[in-house]
Amino acid sequence: MIPIKSKEGITRMRESCAIAAAVLQRLKDRVQPGISTYDLDQAAREIIASYGARSACYGYQLGSRRYPAYSCLSVNDEVVHGIGSLKRILREGDIISLDIVVEYNGYIGDNAYTVAIGQIPPRVQELLRVTQEALEIGIRHAVVGNRIGDISESVQKHVESRGFSVVREMVGHGVGVSMHEEPQIPNFLDRPKKRTDLIRPGMTLAIEPMVNMGGARTKTLSDGWTVVTSDGAPSAHFEHTVLTSEKGPEILTIARPDLL
Ligand code: MF3
Ligand code: CO
Repeated sequence: MIPIKSKEGITRMRESCAIAAAVLQRLKDRVQPGISTYDLDQAAREIIASYGARSACYGYQLGSRRYPAYSCLSVNDEVVHGIGSLKRILREGDIISLDIVVEYNGYIGDNAYTVAIGQIPPRVQELLRVTQEALEIGIRHAVVGNRIGDISESVQKHVESRGFSVVREMVGHGVGVSMHEEPQIPNFLDRPKKRTDLIRPGMTLAIEPMVNMGGARTKTLSDGWTVVTSDGAPSAHFEHTVLTSEKGPEILTIARPDLL
């Protein structure tokens, strides 16, 4: 069952998502050559705490493992779930995806953005642009009366037409009182569209294309979390939490000026 949020639930989602977006914005401003991903993660911890919120990543349980950091910081060939490390120093030419999930007042906001450090090669620039466009296009399809497969298909078409590939092992998702709720939102059409869920008003959806410059395949490192591309080529990730309504999709993870 896909949860439909009540008026009260939507109000709370607006708050948690606005905070998630503000944290992400402030963390982006800290990205610079010479900083370690550990220091960025500590910054995420402090910024999240400054809003009276909690990192939904820290302690997140997958099987017997608990995620040990406050944010997901994934550099270059790392796709998602990178763990901050003192040894990982950002250099000009790197890209880093910042994925921030916060819980505030019982509701979760989830968003991600990939930042370039200094000058990056043109094809990597294109990777970032196309992934961000894919997110925007996916959001435009999150319309009441459409199906989840309309989102998936539109993202996949955009990405593949530009010669990039979509990651299949991880998918977007409903989000609310839990980080991962129904439905799953693949970035590719995984079945006939008619068999994917109908979009109704009051759904809160985390749409998150993960796009590789090379092949689609990924593997998980021995830390049990960090997902990297199998071929070592760069990967990008952009994410928003979106509310569906009769008035059209509304991006909830927008940083409100009063929170910055
Ligand atoms: N933003 C990620 C997602 O959408 C969640 C982070 S996974 C965690 O699934 F392990 F860090 F919590
Ligand atoms: Co997510």
